[in-house]
Amino acid sequence: MSIIKLHDKFFKPYISKDIIAEAVKKLAKQIGKDCKNETPVFIGILNGSFMFIADFVRKYKFNCEVSFVKLASYEGTNSTGNIKELVGLNQDLEGRTVVILEDIIDTGNTLQQIYEIFKDKKVKQLKIATLFYKPDVFKKDLKIDYIGISIPDVFIVGYGLDYDGIGRNHSSIYQLTTEPKFKNILLFGPPGVGKGTQADLLKEKYNLVHISTGDVFRSHMKKETKLGKLAKSYIDKGNLVPDEVTIKMLKGVVTKHKNANGFIFDGFPRTTEQAKALDLFLESHGQTIGGMIALEVPTKLLIARLLERGKTSGRVDDQDENKILNRFNEYFTKTEILKDYYKSQNKYFGVNGVGEISEITERLSKVLDNL
Ligand code: IMP
Ligand code: MG
Repeated sequence: MSIIKLHDKFFKPYISKDIIAEAVKKLAKQIGKDCKNETPVFIGILNGSFMFIADFVRKYKFNCEVSFVKLASYEGTNSTGNIKELVGLNQDLEGRTVVILEDIIDTGNTLQQIYEIFKDKKVKQLKIATLFYKPDVFKKDLKIDYIGISIPDVFIVGYGLDYDGIGRNHSSIYQLTTEPKFKNILLFGPPGVGKGTQADLLKEKYNLVHISTGDVFRSHMKKETKLGKLAKSYIDKGNLVPDEVTIKMLKGVVTKHKNANGFIFDGFPRTTEQAKALDLFLESHGQTIGGMIALEVPTKLLIARLLERGKTSGRVDDQDENKILNRFNEYFTKTEILKDYYKSQNKYFGVNGVGEISEITERLSKVLDNL
């Protein structure tokens, strides 16, 4: 699950399938308890309620009738100008128990119309059930008998609910959010490919914050923090630091730069688990990954580059060919999987990493500008 765009607006995940299913089941149980001795007529108010009704009636264990209506206003043809009719109500409901099934009750205007329309239908009883309800917005003195999930005053889509016609087909609920900053990018590629160099240039050009897991680790190790010592024991062997340690540290850095234009993540994520954790974390801040940009350089060239760097950088993991090979192994066996993860979201971009530094920056910028 990630942020979706409908027309001009962005929506972030809000209520999961499981929580919806639980609420629907609970409603079916409650209504069943009250109505099991008769055959109620369930009336779904279209369009929004179609998904809710379909799930609801399958959880309802007793005899019932199911019907759908649509509200239509006949403005101009009626003296009040605003009276609505239930289109499709072609059934005599006299003496029946009627349960209105609404997807959402917001201001209660619709509900008021429903009560109005049923005044002269001579039903035995009229009950109202709604899956979602906004208590902060509802201002009417009207009875709602069954409520699935109360939500604050937020605009939601999915599970039958739409934004200007679209979004109904999502099986969970999303809420309106601000436009994510598209400049969150992942710089990707095997060790020595030039990620650090390019990240420095790109962060200037686009006013981004560069987060290099390696740098964060090395800074912790230099200060000999608890986390640093732990990280060191993995890094010195050329192994990856465990996910939960890495993610914790990254969250710290992102949270510190709340007002950044965006982030360049370098050296993270390295596994699908980390990628998912990063998505979840960014979404909770209304953000998303704009793209994964991978620098591509032949392996032979990379080993030579790393050994050269090891002579001056003092990095233990750059000085030994076996350790370098171990890091490549890690990269190609675990990390390459990430390509598929981002490819499936149309967020993967491969960039030729051989050439002059400025040339490569140019290539990267082209991708960034088009994100
Ligand atoms: P009312 O304000 O209670 O009359 O609700 C009117 C209608 O507005 C509902 O039946 C929905 O179709 C729509 N609506 C209200 N709140 C939302 C929302 O958060 N998302 C999508 N549609 C909504
Ligand atoms: Mg509705």
